[in-house]
Amino acid sequence: MTLIIAHRGSAGTHPENTMDAFIAAKKFGADGIEFDVHLTLDDQIVVIHDETIDRTTNGTGNVKDFTLEELKKLKANYHYKHFFKKASKIPSLREVFEWLDKNKLICNIELKNNSIPYEGMEKKVIDLIKEFKLEDRIIISSFNHKSLKNVKQLAENIETAPLYKNLIYKPWEYAESIQASGIHPKFTVMTPALISDTLKNNMAVRPYTVNKEREMKKLMELNCTAIITDFPEKAFKVRDTLNN
Ligand code: G3P
Ligand code: MG
Repeated sequence: MTLIIAHRGSAGTHPENTMDAFIAAKKFGADGIEFDVHLTLDDQIVVIHDETIDRTTNGTGNVKDFTLEELKKLKANYHYKHFFKKASKIPSLREVFEWLDKNKLICNIELKNNSIPYEGMEKKVIDLIKEFKLEDRIIISSFNHKSLKNVKQLAENIETAPLYKNLIYKPWEYAESIQASGIHPKFTVMTPALISDTLKNNMAVRPYTVNKEREMKKLMELNCTAIITDFPEKAFKVRDTLNN
């Protein structure tokens, strides 16, 4: 069965990368959540997609130039007008883990360290995973594949998966070369043959961001390990129809 991972939470219906979006994802039947992390000025791990706070909050500037306390004062649903009036805050990774501790969801942490390197970020994330004993249900992904190698050096038992947007020849061989156990490609670069060959080589395939029913159905029929979607509720219904 193809698992459903809610992209930035249920980002199609709720303000992305907020606790509201994660709670909604669980309610909609997602098997897991994906979210993005950055480091603050005081070295705290926070959940937000962009390097800057401009697009998603009422503030302006780089995440790395604010302390966690300062970021907490912002409205994380500021530009999200879509029937959502409740105030949302930028969550810290610790807060998300406190919530995950109470449920069984899979957690895909995307390290957003491809343009700002965030020195020591991998260790901080891993230390927190260990503190909460969440090793078994974490997948760390990133467009920064060197960072994924660092993760494996620090914690061999934590699963990693490279994110990529262009077609890779024999992606399972590439993933293996960086000790990853899965691939997270943009769904448009995956052909049925590539999916089947990657799975045959014992490599998990979790394409992103799959939002149309037709694409969800196709990738589920091809037995993808998971799909990453902004609309977990829709994906749940598609999967239900396929299974009946
Ligand atoms: O992890 C899948 C997806 O989140 C990668 O792209 O830009 O939405 O973080 P982005
Ligand atoms: Mg992401």
